[in-house]
Amino acid sequence: MSLAKKFDDGSALIGVVALGYVGLPLLRSFYNAGFRVIGFDVDPDKIRMLNAGENYLKHLGEGFVSEMSASDRFEVTDDFGRLGEPDAIMICVPTPLGPHQEPDLSFVERAADDVAKTLRTGQLIVLESTTYPGTTREIMLPRLEASGAGATGGAGGTGGLRCGKDFFLAYSPEREDPGRKDHNTQTIPKLVGGIDEKSGELAVAMYRKAIKKVIPVSSAEVAESAKILENVYRAVNIALVNEMKVILEKMGIDVWEVIDAAATKPFGYQAFYPGPGLGGHCIPIDPYYLTWKAREVGQPTRFIELAGHVNHHMPDYVVQRTLLALNEEGKSVRGSKILVMGLAYKPDVDDVRESPSFELIEQLIELGASVEYHDPHVQATHKMRRHNLKMVSIDISPEIVGDYDCVLIATHHTACDWGMIARHARLIVDTRGVMRGRTDVTGRVVMA
Ligand SMILES: NC(=O)c1ccc[n+]([C@@H]2O[C@H](COP(=O)([O-])OP(=O)(O)OC[C@H]3O[C@@H](n4cnc5c(N)ncnc54)[C@H](O)[C@@H]3O)[C@@H](O)[C@H]2O)c1
Repeated sequence: MSLAKKFDDGSALIGVVALGYVGLPLLRSFYNAGFRVIGFDVDPDKIRMLNAGENYLKHLGEGFVSEMSASDRFEVTDDFGRLGEPDAIMICVPTPLGPHQEPDLSFVERAADDVAKTLRTGQLIVLESTTYPGTTREIMLPRLEASGAGATGGAGGTGGLRCGKDFFLAYSPEREDPGRKDHNTQTIPKLVGGIDEKSGELAVAMYRKAIKKVIPVSSAEVAESAKILENVYRAVNIALVNEMKVILEKMGIDVWEVIDAAATKPFGYQAFYPGPGLGGHCIPIDPYYLTWKAREVGQPTRFIELAGHVNHHMPDYVVQRTLLALNEEGKSVRGSKILVMGLAYKPDVDDVRESPSFELIEQLIELGASVEYHDPHVQATHKMRRHNLKMVSIDISPEIVGDYDCVLIATHHTACDWGMIARHARLIVDTRGVMRGRTDVTGRVVMA
């Protein structure tokens, strides 16, 4: 039976490689669409938990993993020798930066090599990881064509499987926004670009079964570039509004009120909000993928680098504001007790990747402050690429909050009792506009 027919009648086996923030909800979308699904991950703990019906990504909601794991349409494994089984494989591995801000495509390369080992006629492979334009064609394609278990002959590589004829390859960027309530994997429109026409058509046919709106574009490169543009756009606009914050603060003007005012314009303006810096796996990282690739064509990426510079220095600015706020209270930061509210990089998630809270805490400790944190979603820190704080979230009460010289609001989780903080903190440094408009604040509030 042809692949298109298998997608159409729902008999295709759908595979997802890497079951993290992107891969797990994607697997769920195809499961919900009625397909048999198989997930692959190198982390044996994740496989064990999923098989036991346990969910390690709380923001996705309760119950769905136990439901899937009880079904005979769901399987997860760390046995990559089984990659020949699915009819389609979507790859959602991490794409981090190396030590010199260069793309680290080692996860993509390894996943491509794993898929190549068992590649067979009739398989569709789609890369979903965020990356620079050209990755699917330059990194994935040669690896897949050089190998393959079920070659039918051809001029490809040693394995002889040819893209567009024997197997199919496409790129479809993931636009997942963990914690968002108004959209999920199924409702976020999906861009799809093939390495060739047939690959694009087949990928579109697959996604249309699970995703509400699928938008075909003319090539994998267009889809790769669109994703990078979206994230560069965010990084640049966040930097702009962070710079506005610093300028307006010096002029004694409330940046939050200014943003609200500007946002009343029904066209030509989209509101972005300032904060303590950039966090997450995407916005602080993805723009540098384009920067690196742009060097190949001799083109500077000034906007991206400037935005990176402004955003990167936001924690310094917040620490400076905290220091001055304490000073006005007659206190030095050395010896002060500071409570940081929020470790995750954005509200209502437990994701701490690249979170500026780590930078804030480290800088304040370095200056001699005694720092603790409270985050209802992050009970303890774990070892990360650049940080190892070895801290645990403290429980808070009016007495405990009142005992700190300063409460620094880094993340505005809805689960936090901001009224209690407002009424009992002696000094609040607010990077998220949480205290704006409150009438129950008893201490001093400094916006930062
Ligand atoms: N998190 C987001 O909000 C988001 C949004 C859009 C796009 N993306 C992009 O999606 C990709 C994945 O991000 P994520 O947030 O899901 O990462 P993640 O860290 O949550 O998950 C990655 C998973 O990959 C697994 N893994 C690593 N190497 C593997 C391999 N060779 N084979 C199989 N599994 C492997 C890890 O064990 C982990 O479970 C990245 O390119 C990211 O930029 C992420």
